[in-house]
Amino acid sequence: MLPAMNTLDTINGHRSIRKYLGDPIPDDDLERILHAATRASSSGNMQTYSMIVTKDPERKKTLWKLHFEQDMVLQAPLLLTFVVDWHRMNRWCRLSGTEPGYDNFLSFLVGFSDAFVAAQNAALAAEAMGYGICYMGTTLSSGPAIAKFLELPTSVYPATTLVIGRPDESPDIRARLPMDGIVHHETYEVPSDEDVRKTYEKREVEGWKRYMSFPELAAMIEESGVKNLAEVYTTLKYTKSENEEVSRELLELLESQGFFSGALEP
Ligand SMILES: Cc1cc2nc3c(=O)[nH]c(=O)nc-3n(C[C@H](O)[C@H](O)[C@H](O)COP(=O)(O)O)c2cc1C
Repeated sequence: MLPAMNTLDTINGHRSIRKYLGDPIPDDDLERILHAATRASSSGNMQTYSMIVTKDPERKKTLWKLHFEQDMVLQAPLLLTFVVDWHRMNRWCRLSGTEPGYDNFLSFLVGFSDAFVAAQNAALAAEAMGYGICYMGTTLSSGPAIAKFLELPTSVYPATTLVIGRPDESPDIRARLPMDGIVHHETYEVPSDEDVRKTYEKREVEGWKRYMSFPELAAMIEESGVKNLAEVYTTLKYTKSENEEVSRELLELLESQGFFSGALEP
């Protein structure tokens, strides 16, 4: 068992790790990470999430495919998939002789919030113990396939995945947008164009430099004629057409997992 770091040191020292050593995580460390996740706040203390532990190398191979072949999924010994889970709660309500009203969008958002708050607790616990972590946004991009692979029943929905393991790299901490572009006092203060430009001034330079340092991405950028960082996001990384396609699939999954049933009632 590794000594834990101070909370603020852990938070301020965070950086996503994308290269891992394969050595397994001892069971008591895994227990501590899972337990920390369950200590997170949750709406009404209902804990409307579950965590699915993947350690099996063969199953990780399938998840690697579903996570767009991001190699850290293969390298790291542990994947934790956090899912919105109203199945357990609905079953308990019915066993207790009462009908749950949780098949709607609000309940989905509540479960999604609970799942992410728990995931971040797990992430911080793992980092405090010296492990590296990375979130996998591809849990949403491949939502329907991941739901099938993990055999999610109705009222359960994939939210996010953490890759966890011993780091095999030590990247620099990545800069954040300046605080005054993010913090508002009392009411939302709509920024001027100049304010917005100023907020992204450093990011434009640093982000561009970072993306150009990845040969594959640099080649794509040069080939596409993209001129600035915002364009990298809108035309290469997160495009409208891809976002709309995945959104449609995720809405269908919401429906098939039963989260819209209530909304259809008069
Ligand atoms: C919800 C979520 C999904 C993410 N998905 C991915 C991912 O699929 N692949 C990846 O390499 N990083 C992923 N990240 C990590 C972000 O790229 C990273 O947090 C961000 O670039 C800031 O870097 P840092 O975490 O090192 O400070 C994700 C982060 C979050 C919060």
